[in-house]
Amino acid sequence: MHEPLELDFSVKYKHRIYFTEGAFNVGNLILAQLLQSNKVLVAVDVGLITARPALLTEIGAYVLAHKLSLTRPPFILTGGEACKSDDKVVQQILSAIEADKICRHSYIVAIGGGAFLDAVGFAAAIAHRGVRLIRMPTTTLSQADAGVGVKNGINAFGKKNFTGAFAPPVAVVNDSDFLSSLDARGRRDGLVEAVKVAVLKDGDFFEKIEKQTAQLAGGDKEILAEVVRRSAELHAEHIATAGDPFELGSARPLDLGHWAAHKLEVLSAHRLSHGEAVAIGLALDIICARQAGLFSTALTERVLTLLEKLGFNLYADELHLDGGRPLLQGLEEFREHLGGQLTLVLPKALGESTQVHELSAAVVRCAADELRARVRR
Ligand SMILES: NC(=O)c1ccc[n+]([C@@H]2O[C@H](COP(=O)([O-])OP(=O)(O)OC[C@H]3O[C@@H](n4cnc5c(N)ncnc54)[C@H](O)[C@@H]3O)[C@@H](O)[C@H]2O)c1
Ligand SMILES: [Zn+2]
Repeated sequence: MHEPLELDFSVKYKHRIYFTEGAFNVGNLILAQLLQSNKVLVAVDVGLITARPALLTEIGAYVLAHKLSLTRPPFILTGGEACKSDDKVVQQILSAIEADKICRHSYIVAIGGGAFLDAVGFAAAIAHRGVRLIRMPTTTLSQADAGVGVKNGINAFGKKNFTGAFAPPVAVVNDSDFLSSLDARGRRDGLVEAVKVAVLKDGDFFEKIEKQTAQLAGGDKEILAEVVRRSAELHAEHIATAGDPFELGSARPLDLGHWAAHKLEVLSAHRLSHGEAVAIGLALDIICARQAGLFSTALTERVLTLLEKLGFNLYADELHLDGGRPLLQGLEEFREHLGGQLTLVLPKALGESTQVHELSAAVVRCAADELRARVRR
């Protein structure tokens, strides 16, 4: 009598990531084949255009050569964390979708950094309950991690990614040429996600990064592209094969260091970039793992030294703000964002990790003190 009607269904996704150079060279057919005769709205991060003004001409020539149906000239919008700080960019995209009569079979091509892709991706996910999206990440961090995932979102209530959705893009086009216009900070930022995923999943990759530190810190284009690519592969493989692409469980097995990072970003009013905050969060979690007897002292030192050699600063005053209370609040906010029981990933060895459900305030404080002492040395 009270039996519910239960029907099982599943939806198959194909997560497609192209690795290329010169995606807007007329001879590069990836975008032309993806877009064909469909309507297309192209949205571009203004920071990218400032760094490479010729991009607009390149897009124009490509559109003309392949007879693509753009609804308007590339729509240039605010990028960087500012575009996630309110819903202005989301509303601008929604208005453009409405005005240009973009339908669920049309495409939005978002070109920019991780923040821009998050904001535009969110608008694409909610307009008509989901318009097709092609992501073109243009920073190391977005090519190595943010852009190749299935999440989007903007910040709200002083919390990162509070408003967002899971929405796999139709395709991701990772064009390593974009990385050439980044400054040293922009080039470095994505390396932290590569180190993170290497520590968690691939010891050989970690050693490779270690051996190439000097080239990476010096901005070697080919080595940077290789590291970014391996990081993207590991992140995407995790989404496709770890069994929880939409994070329905309580665990986030790739989010080493992220509970603290998200809090530090907000506490620093985004003075710290995502990459810089993750470097500190990573160092903090790794010291906590050592304190818990999970990760050896020697490995802890290796990871911290690698991050420093890559140019990351492993301490920010926000760790000790108000006796460390706001930082610790980040743990509860992380739990709340995931739902269920607090679940943190910590490393056991290079390429091996485990999950813990508790991190005591004393351990976190001690790790923060250690990082402060380290930078003062
Ligand atoms: N959705 C996800 O799964 C996910 C995962 C990780 C991080 N993120 C988010 O990604 C964001 C960080 O992304 P980011 O590190 O790419 O930073 P960002 O998007 O803030 O970009 C940094 C700056 O670089 C500029 N820029 C972009 N491309 C450029 C280029 N090729 N040359 C010169 N300048 C360029 C941007 O305009 C911006 O000013 C954070 O908001 C973070 O929360 C999302
Ligand atoms: Zn991250």
